[in-house]
Amino acid sequence: MQHLIPIASGKGGVGKTLLAANLGIALAQQGKTVVLIDLDLGGSNLHTLLGIRNSHPGIGHFIYKKAETLEELLVETSQHQLFLIPGDGLFCATANLPFHRKQAILKQLPDIPADFVILDLGSGTTYNTLDLFLTSSAGLLVTSPDTTAILNAYSFLKSAMFRLLQRSFSAKSSERHLVMDFLQQKMEGGNHHIQELVEQIHRLDAESGNRAREALSQFRPRVVMNMGRTAQDIRLGGRLRKVVQDNLKSGIEFIAYLPQDEYASRSPLERTPTLLRYPECPYSQGIKHCAHRIIQEPVPPMQALFEDDQDLQELADQFGNLL
Ligand SMILES: Nc1ncnc2c1ncn2[C@@H]1O[C@H](COP(=O)(O)OP(=O)(O)O)[C@@H](O)[C@H]1O
Ligand SMILES: [Mg+2]
Repeated sequence: MQHLIPIASGKGGVGKTLLAANLGIALAQQGKTVVLIDLDLGGSNLHTLLGIRNSHPGIGHFIYKKAETLEELLVETSQHQLFLIPGDGLFCATANLPFHRKQAILKQLPDIPADFVILDLGSGTTYNTLDLFLTSSAGLLVTSPDTTAILNAYSFLKSAMFRLLQRSFSAKSSERHLVMDFLQQKMEGGNHHIQELVEQIHRLDAESGNRAREALSQFRPRVVMNMGRTAQDIRLGGRLRKVVQDNLKSGIEFIAYLPQDEYASRSPLERTPTLLRYPECPYSQGIKHCAHRIIQEPVPPMQALFEDDQDLQELADQFGNLL
């Protein structure tokens, strides 16, 4: 069975791409077939970390309909059983992924033949990133121990959970309207908790309330604490878990603690993945451990979600980046 592993973060520069490349190698070395997809549109650099030249067609070709399937874009890497679908490096300005092309990507992802398909996402909480993250019930959320990164990780989780609730109900449903109104009020400054929204949905319709609860309880992102330096970092991780538990009533699991490691920081310059060049360094050890856990702890498939507000989104696409 194929597993999707989206990798996201609230803040940029916390090590998603380095993790994607090295985790892909570690899983391949443990006998799995792996496809890495660079979905950091406008900032793709996964090929660089793998030592592959920026001359292959990639996701940009699919977005601009120059390729019909994602599968035809697979590029071999130096690691046996590891393949790459490069980003949009040969195009510019793909950051505004049109709605239909996003739908096409989401539809084709489960058909890519591999044991693991790893998605290296852009930083932050755009709908495109959230939707790609929600392709799994247990995507990886990377943070560093810095306060800003931790706060942004929390915001990311909150946004992902609201998006999950929104897409748990069909576009024209009263439940969807309730979610949208709630988000609107939040944007206008109300400090309402997600649980209040669940209760409102429950008052509207008990079955829908149960569906909302079920969707949230099945959503269990796995956090990677990267660039760790001291034991203090573990406490910060515990704080993140507590705020998520208190405010979002949701549990997170820490799946890896990866140390700040000078060998890891060298590899982008050397254009060779850390795990291949320095297999015994502390970062590589952490990565191997993380890969092992991912193989050992299978993730339940994500429930089917409803599409976005297609009509609205098409209008937005016509006007470029207005929304
Ligand atoms: N554990 C680590 N130790 C040292 N440097 C790291 C570590 N993780 C990532 N880096 C470095 O941090 C920089 C940003 O990493 P990158 O993976 O590009 O972040 P992101 O994809 O989240 O923006 C890169 O130069 C990378 O080599
Ligand atoms: Mg990156």
